[in-house]
Amino acid sequence: MTNKVRKAVFPAAGLGTRFLPATKASPKEMLPLVDKPLIQYSVEEAVSSGIESILIITGRDKSAIENHFDISFELEQLLQEKGKSEMFDQVRAISDIAKISYTRQKQALGLGHAIYQAKDFVGNEPFAALLADDVVDAERPALRQMMDVFEKYQAPVIATMQVEGEAISRFGVIDADEVEPGVFRIKDMVEKPAFADAPSDLAIIGRYIFTPDIFQAIEQTTPGAGGEIQITDAMRLLLKERPFYAVKLEGARHDAGDKLGFLIATVEYALKRDDLGGEFREYLRSLNLDD
Ligand code: UTP
Repeated sequence: MTNKVRKAVFPAAGLGTRFLPATKASPKEMLPLVDKPLIQYSVEEAVSSGIESILIITGRDKSAIENHFDISFELEQLLQEKGKSEMFDQVRAISDIAKISYTRQKQALGLGHAIYQAKDFVGNEPFAALLADDVVDAERPALRQMMDVFEKYQAPVIATMQVEGEAISRFGVIDADEVEPGVFRIKDMVEKPAFADAPSDLAIIGRYIFTPDIFQAIEQTTPGAGGEIQITDAMRLLLKERPFYAVKLEGARHDAGDKLGFLIATVEYALKRDDLGGEFREYLRSLNLDD
């Protein structure tokens, strides 16, 4: 097994029920934060972390994702004819971003099942899995932070973030020992614990680095909540057999697959934009929100 993470998998076959009706016929991964689809943010994160090859797991109605990363011949021709070279470069860069292939998850049978579709693509290598609706705004790309830990410990790494108070109950939570600042060796994980039972304030978020033995663990995982094969159940099986690490990510994480999280992320990203931030800030200031 090579010790470098070169491949990344993007499960994007979920039904996106939290974002209906927008996700009725279009993938939630194509929802834009300002003007860029969610999945482009995380593909860019992967590429800037050093990933060379990408597999996107799609489902029904996901052709927009494939089209987005493909060449748009008519659009490019039009932009060239009109002399809009900056826009042309921007559009062309999307299709040049990385080597991307696609496979279908025929039924949305859970995240574990979606990741299992990457078995042939992955082969005998470590690989990353990124959930595009978890957007991480960080100076050092989130996946790069995780890859550094993987390269040191040569074991799977999951991303966590500190969550204050009762909100922890909405996440998978790790029980772990800190082995160096911000790096933890996991003892156990629990899905959505009651606040009083949460073993820590470290919530699992949608970034993982797996070793290929995760596929055997998924094979042995029986369907859990909602008949879905949960990746957390597969990770817990594997945890009995090998070390597993977590990193506390630096940066801000937004759940853009949730309506409120999406709105917050939109405001944060818009405020940071050179071309929009100033006017947008003025507009927000003008709102009389005390009524
Ligand atoms: P979510 O838990 O966000 O589920 O999946 P979802 O179906 O996409 O959205 P909601 O909760 O109904 O609104 C986490 C990630 O796993 C993928 C999703 O696309 C998302 O990136 N996923 C989930 C699959 O690819 N296949 C599945 O069967 C389930």
